[in-house]
Amino acid sequence: MSRTRTAMLAALTLVAGGTGMALTAIPASAGATAAPCTVDYKLNQWSTGFTADVTVTNNGAAKSSWTLKWTYAGNQKITSGWNAKITQSGANVTAANESYNGALGTGGSASFGFQGTYSGTNAVPAAFTLDGVTCNVDSGGGTGGTGGDTGGTGGDTGGTGGSTGGGATDPSGRADNPYVGAKVYVNPEWSKLAAAEPGGSRVSDQPTAVWLDRIAAINGVNGGMGLRAHLDEALKQKGSGDLVVQLVIYDLPGRDCAALASNGELGPNDIDKYKTQYIDPIASILSDAKYAGLRIATVIEPDSLPNLVTNAGGTNTTTDACTTMKSNGNYEKGVSYALDKLGAIPNVYNYIDAAHHGWLGWDTNLGPSVQEFYKVATTNGASLSDVTGFIVNTANYSATKEPNLKITDTVNGQTVRQSKWVDWNQYVDEQSFAQGLRDKLVAAGFNSGIGMLIDTSRNGWGGSARPSGPGPLTSVDDYVNGGRIDRRIHAGNWCNQSGAGLGERPTAAPAAGIDAYVWVKPPGESDGSSSAVDNDEGKGFDRMCDPTYGGNARNGNSPTGALPNSPVAGHWFSAQFQELMKNAYPPLP
Ligand code: GLC
Repeated sequence: MSRTRTAMLAALTLVAGGTGMALTAIPASAGATAAPCTVDYKLNQWSTGFTADVTVTNNGAAKSSWTLKWTYAGNQKITSGWNAKITQSGANVTAANESYNGALGTGGSASFGFQGTYSGTNAVPAAFTLDGVTCNVDSGGGTGGTGGDTGGTGGDTGGTGGSTGGGATDPSGRADNPYVGAKVYVNPEWSKLAAAEPGGSRVSDQPTAVWLDRIAAINGVNGGMGLRAHLDEALKQKGSGDLVVQLVIYDLPGRDCAALASNGELGPNDIDKYKTQYIDPIASILSDAKYAGLRIATVIEPDSLPNLVTNAGGTNTTTDACTTMKSNGNYEKGVSYALDKLGAIPNVYNYIDAAHHGWLGWDTNLGPSVQEFYKVATTNGASLSDVTGFIVNTANYSATKEPNLKITDTVNGQTVRQSKWVDWNQYVDEQSFAQGLRDKLVAAGFNSGIGMLIDTSRNGWGGSARPSGPGPLTSVDDYVNGGRIDRRIHAGNWCNQSGAGLGERPTAAPAAGIDAYVWVKPPGESDGSSSAVDNDEGKGFDRMCDPTYGGNARNGNSPTGALPNSPVAGHWFSAQFQELMKNAYPPLP
């Protein structure tokens, strides 16, 4: 108290001296007089897009509703927003409160955010008005927050470098995008395996997800780190900043019903065991107040709901196991339960798995998938507010972007959709799929603030086989096959793919609607064994992991493209790790 006062008087004296004014002419409170309102505008931008987190503080009389306006100097165009009703007319933007954040007491503040596109420069607006009164941009944080990280392209999720960050928050207090301004947890166990590989130290400090792939993983398998050990280590890595810990929730009854490689420990009817011995103990650990400062991103049950949509009845991809899981309802009950229990924890951010474009990218699959996601997020105790977003490409190999190919391209009057590779899909890559899916989810009723994750751990497709430009215009197949960077034999191939490389390094907010590029599948961990191997994890032998197999209906009866001599799913596969580094794109140094 007295220190503050002394400092203020010293400052006033200096001002008075400098201007020649008598000290007494300045009201005693002058040094503390605030502008009628202050605006903090934090920008996070990449080459053509940006997100902004805006905090407006009201220093005048209390308000029950508010409208903030500004004018852009450039061609910024806002595409979506959260926690305010945002409209734009030309360069003029109006942000009005939502029903839940209209009250703004004296000294109170409200935060909202949005994303948009731009080209050229993306300057912070020069002036803001709150209900017609001009605000001073808060100078407490420098020039008003252009210092937010420029995101995206730098190579790690390092974010805003020690910002007190948090970004926009929703009514629950969650950040709109937990990855903005935050580091991401580096799993020491994966890191050690990677670093032990020749050349592995080039990537061993990258964040990867922790897979809770069995009940025993909660306490640690074979003396390995359990959930608490990871969270304790995460607190150390967090320091005084923000940190995201990525957990994969993966132990449903009858797991992996359309394949055998990742069959799990629980039988088709073990839903009670799933709830009480798996989800409940995880929820209880995550609820520990000690971990309240961590941002915990969960990836909910890879492949499960997509399997119900495409492989559980009436098609040539149907399996008995998926039909069983659809009829007993235990995938749906399990996912709803996980969303509900984990979503009740304020620092947990649930992302539901949504397969990849080569699985759900046809309208006939995508519409029903959106319905399925909506159903599980609104039944059995789950609600839409339990869902932060969705993840695509988990443990898959589909390219983030196909630079030489657009779905709208035509060759000799034929659309690329008619090519054998695209096969009438509506998407050619994961980013367009994620964005398209996001729009459909919001249209179906999911919160407009939902964000998407893309698993880019193994979809780099660099190396010597990477095409340098579009394919020839001799036929639509030549064009697609010559230009596509995804070199798989068929987009339905998923096991230990030959020719694959590490993809984009984990990155926060890389594009509109995308919360982050993440490495969920830890590179170097096998997708499945290439021949039958005894194990006590419930894992089967799936011939999609056998390089000599001719395929099935889910991969157009094509060869599998799997690497030989692979171990059981989840086990370290050194040869694959080396291949992934060799074919990394962007390349490794
Ligand atoms: C597979 C395995 C699982 C492992 C995960 C990550 O899904 O079945 O055990 O944890 O991959 O490598």
